[in-house]
Formats: sequence, C-alpha cells, structure tokens
Amino acid sequence: MNVLLIGSGGREHALAWKIRQSPLLGRLFVAPGGAALASLGEPVAVDVSDAQAVVQACRLRSVELVVVGPEGPLAAGLADALRAASIPVFGPGKEAARLESSKGFAKRFMAAHGVATARAESFTSRDQALAFAATLSLPVVVKADGLAAGKGVTICATRSEVEDALFSCLEARAFGEAGAAVLVEEFLPGEEASLLCFCDGRVLRPMASAQDHKRLEEGDRGPNTGGMGAYSPAPALDAGTMNRVWEEILSPTLAGLAREGLDFRGCLYVGLMLTPSGPKVVEYNVRFGDPETQAVVPRMDFDLLPVLLACAEGRLGSVAPLAWKPGACATVVLASHGYPFTASKDAPIEGLGDGFGDGFGDGFGDGFGDGSGGGSGDGSGDGEMVFHAGTSRLNGGWVTQGGRVLDVTAWGPDLPAALERAYHACERIRFEGMRYRRDIGHRAVAPRAAPTA
Ligand code: AMP
Ligand code: GLY
Repeated sequence: MNVLLIGSGGREHALAWKIRQSPLLGRLFVAPGGAALASLGEPVAVDVSDAQAVVQACRLRSVELVVVGPEGPLAAGLADALRAASIPVFGPGKEAARLESSKGFAKRFMAAHGVATARAESFTSRDQALAFAATLSLPVVVKADGLAAGKGVTICATRSEVEDALFSCLEARAFGEAGAAVLVEEFLPGEEASLLCFCDGRVLRPMASAQDHKRLEEGDRGPNTGGMGAYSPAPALDAGTMNRVWEEILSPTLAGLAREGLDFRGCLYVGLMLTPSGPKVVEYNVRFGDPETQAVVPRMDFDLLPVLLACAEGRLGSVAPLAWKPGACATVVLASHGYPFTASKDAPIEGLGDGFGDGFGDGFGDGFGDGSGGGSGDGSGDGEMVFHAGTSRLNGGWVTQGGRVLDVTAWGPDLPAALERAYHACERIRFEGMRYRRDIGHRAVAPRAAPTA
C-alpha cells in the first residue's frame, strides 16, 4: 500500500518511523516533509494547502491512504477533497475539524451532548466578554477562538490581566483572525492528561494515555507553547478515572458526533483536566498530539498502518484490540532560545551522528520493551530516539530550523528510567541557544501536590 503522510514535524517523524515498519507498506511519500523525514519517505513537492494538487499527486503515485498530521490542512478541507476523489484519508473533514478550529464550536458541541467541560461563553465584543468574566472567580481563562498553535490561551490571575488578554485578542489581533472571537472560561484546577483516540465516526479506541507539558518553563510556569515534553502512560489517568472518562466524556462525544452527522475518521485528541470533581475536557484536537505522539507511538505493540486504514474506511470495529508495550516512554523537546516567540535557523547541531537512522534511529525498534537487542552500535544506546521537529541539512550536518528542534525520546521499564535515559541523551546534543525543561514527568515521579480546590 502506498501512503502519503502530510506534515513535517516531530509528530510526523514518529508516525513515519512507525508506518515504515509495516509489512503492508509499499512506498511512503511525505509532503512537505523535511530533511529528516526524507530518510523515511519520498518527498513530494506539493503545496499541502492546495487540496486539488494533493489529490493529483496521490493519483500520480497510486496513493491508497493519506495520513494528515497537522490541523491546518484538515481545517482547510483537505480530507473532504481527498474523500471526494475516493482516496481514503486518516483525518476528519472540515466540519468535524471545527472541534479544534473553533473553540466556540467545540463548547457548543460539548454543551449540546452533555460532555463534561468548563463553563465558558464566546464573545466578539470586549465589553460583553468583560462582563461575563466578572461573573467568574479568578483565575479566568481567555482563549482565542481559532487555531493559534497552542499559544492562544491566557490564564489571567488578575482582572487587569483579563482586560489585557481581551484587548490583545480582540483588538490588537495578536493571533490574527483566530482572535476575532474569544472564549472566556472558568479555570479548572487539577492535573492534565491527553487521551489520543482512534476514531472512525462510530467506534472510538483510546490509545495509551499521555501527558504533555505546555508551559515553557520548569514548574509549569511561563508562556504556553506547543508542548515542551511528554510521557506515556500518564499515571493520573488510573482505571477509575478512565471509567469516568468513558462515561462522562468519550461516550457522549461519540453520540454527539453521530447525532450531528460528523463523520470523524482520524485521531480525536481529548485534552483532559482531572479536577477534584471529575475529569473535564479542556480541548479537543482533531489530529495526533505533538509531542504526545512521540511518546505514544513507540509504545504501540501493533502494526499502525492497518489501524489508520480501518479508521479511514470506517471499519475500526473490525480491528483487533490494541496492545501496548509495557514500561514508559518519555520525550524531551529541545527548543531554540526564543521559542515560542521566535525560531532559530541554521545553528549547527552537534551530537546527532551523521543522520537520522544511524544511531538513535535504529536502536529503538527491537530493543524496546526488554531493554535488549537492536543496539545501533554507535554508543547512542537502546531504547532512545531523536525525532526531528525543526531541522535541516547544511554543509553535510544538521542545523536548526524552527522553534522546537528535536524531540529526544527514550523508553524505560518505568517512567524514572525512561526520563533518565532521555535526559542522558539530551546531554549529548548541543546547539546554540538550546533550551529544554529539566522537569518533564515531575508530576508523575514526585509526590503529588494536594489539589488546590
Ligand atoms: P488549550 O489550547 O485550550 O488546550 O489550552 C492550552 C492550555 O491552557 C491547556 O493545556 C491548559 O494547560 C491550559 N488551560 C486551558 N483551559 C484551561 C482551563 N479552563 N483551566 C485551566 N487551565 C486551562
Ligand atoms: N500537545 C498539544 C497539542 O498537540 O495540541
């Protein structure tokens, strides 16, 4: 089977790495891809925002499945165009993608179908937004309605921060048109967890749980980012909580999709807050999480490709139960100095070896799970891998090309061991301005803080 993977980041690198292991795979194409992805798939020079051009590229290459990584092309209707051309696609159409591309739409959906979530209202008027915010106790959460790469959320500790956030969204348009409407939301205390689910519109299968770290700085401080690290499983999502998640979130979500005729074929990412009064949805995303995918995919003890195809073809119910490798997986994001505000370019990266695939890349596949076998022989060790989020090649070496640069991922028999391995691997890598959080997994390995409310 020929597959086209859309995207270019660390998430797509992890997906490509896994898809490549499938015996069902014929040729793997990537668009737009990148230097690291080019070692796993054949780059296709096509503008992914031009749906008809993508359809044409698929026809020329006999592509039988398209897997869409990022939300942008989904929100723009790429999956609809492919389906109209009878090309199976893993990723929802434009209407269902509104669960991510409009926070107001997602809130209305949750309210209509009784999905547990925070109280919130949508506004385009600053005065009305302020009046509603005044009815909520602090902190208050202000969110740009549209897509803002995970950066459109402000947690406001004071009333003047609420005013500033509303001004910045609605008037200064800090997030462009994505901030033409805002959601003002009550603050949910608790621990977060991410549940990525395969979905074919009628059947939903959760993957292994994960937790990411959205704040830039240690101790969950600083601005929100696209994610600074992740680990799987998330111990906070224990069996009892998971039962409640099924009852109060996944079942009503699935029923809502059916009732609204939303044909959701792809990855439904449910961002959860585990509050003292139960799990609640913080957000839906309509694609694999980044960087959660980098920590979840290596734990898949099954062939991913037929599962993706089954979702695309609406027959997920026929797929065997999904098995997960024991132990834990941790991902540490190595970011550029100015992230999330600026990206870096062309800073040489040391410590990666000659390229993806020689070294970090190969030790993972067969060494995973028991810590033996499959070593790469260059000292990078088993059970470690570096997914490339934003790199390119220059003068025969790797250089930075973005805000998030590398996703250093490691497996261990438990989370502390996985983290130790991942951090050890981070120490071997260097580029100018490199920064990373040193407390990934802190909630799971340190004693838990008591809930604040
Ligand atoms: P979102 O883009 O909606 O996922 O928000 C980004 C991050 O902001 C979340 O992962 C949370 O850490 C935080 N956040 C969003 N909404 C809330 C809320 N209602 N209460 C507490 N934290 C929130
Ligand atoms: N890790 C958060 C996201 O993918 O949106």
